[in-house]
Amino acid sequence: MSKTRIGVIGCGMISDTYFNAAKRFGNIEIAACADIDMEVAKKKAEAHENLFPAKTVDELLADASIELVINLTVPKAHAEVDMQILRAGKHAYSEKPLGVDLDQAREVMKLAAEKNLRIGCAPDTFLGGGQQTARKLIDDGWIGKPIAGTAMVLGRGPEKWAHAPFFFDYGAGPMLDLGPYYITALINLLGPAKSVTAMTTKGSETRVGGPDTVPHVYPINVTTHLTGVIEFQCGALITVITSFEVYKHGHAPIEIYGSEGTLQVPDPNTFGGPVRIFRNGYQDWVECPLSHGYTTNSRSIGAADIINALKSGRPHRASGELAFHALEIMLAFDKSSQLGAKVMLESTCKQPAPLPLGLEDGELDD
Ligand SMILES: NC(=O)c1ccc[n+]([C@@H]2O[C@H](COP(=O)([O-])OP(=O)(O)OC[C@H]3O[C@@H](n4cnc5c(N)ncnc54)[C@H](O)[C@@H]3O)[C@@H](O)[C@H]2O)c1
Repeated sequence: MSKTRIGVIGCGMISDTYFNAAKRFGNIEIAACADIDMEVAKKKAEAHENLFPAKTVDELLADASIELVINLTVPKAHAEVDMQILRAGKHAYSEKPLGVDLDQAREVMKLAAEKNLRIGCAPDTFLGGGQQTARKLIDDGWIGKPIAGTAMVLGRGPEKWAHAPFFFDYGAGPMLDLGPYYITALINLLGPAKSVTAMTTKGSETRVGGPDTVPHVYPINVTTHLTGVIEFQCGALITVITSFEVYKHGHAPIEIYGSEGTLQVPDPNTFGGPVRIFRNGYQDWVECPLSHGYTTNSRSIGAADIINALKSGRPHRASGELAFHALEIMLAFDKSSQLGAKVMLESTCKQPAPLPLGLEDGELDD
């Protein structure tokens, strides 16, 4: 199979995961990397044995052999870099979120449509074996009709990391940084949503963080505890909490309560299991064998899926439409809290097609 050449813009922390995982896909090859800081790009290429060259962003975008570019820049730059990629006539696959607000995301979607180019967006963890198994169990009726559920991602946040302030600034926080995994997983499991009713708060205006040797005070510019209910179009009511205010808890990442049983869905920030089910009449949970592959870190599978989708003309799964809907849901938490009212969602999306059974590792369907 001929491999489609793809570029990567943004050579920071997560890029190694992409460079390593991309090797397993038979349909893509990394052709070049770039960063706003050329030295960072050069070091990254060297760290990967110069399997691909480091280029400036302009050089990478001018390379006619590159068809798709993965955007691994910081959230505030996602929309602008996506637009640069699209203006250069290339398909774009961005890290999450699609934009830090709906206006930004709308502009990206509009340009992609005008240029007839594909726009994809992380997370693609919902294509992992854990989430795909959970999806199959729901689709096959193992818990009956989904009625309700919970999605919880609770912790203190990366408050001690050297670049901690980034995670407590606009465009991040527990909802926009971690929410995309959970909300996208829920859309994959249940389909699109209809409304959000929520309340949000923060525990303090500042935090002290950074490495122990140089602790510093930084401002908290986002809400850090968001709690609410998403009403899905299928009727299911899912209670969601995303928080950077919690030291310890005992909740499962996601549970779906159906008319015939309960499904425990694995952490959607990973590709694996476990998936556990309790059906009416069981004595205890049963751990389900995973029906699908891609159970280890496969970030970039969303981009590889675009390449196969382009060849056959089918929709790609980690789509801009999905990411836009997820973004509207996430932003609706603060909006609902500020309004003191239920927010009816304006966007929708198609539930992404499940991956077929029996794919070899590195393979995707046509
Ligand atoms: N680090 C993680 O564990 C992780 C996990 C999953 C997803 N992500 C997401 O991946 C993205 C990148 O995260 P990271 O941790 O690698 O960040 P990072 O800060 O380590 O790296 C970002 C890189 O992008 C470059 N950059 C910024 N603006 C640019 C621009 N306009 N043009 C070109 N390059 C630009 C920076 O110079 C930097 O090298 C974020 O959206 C983040 O949410 C990160």
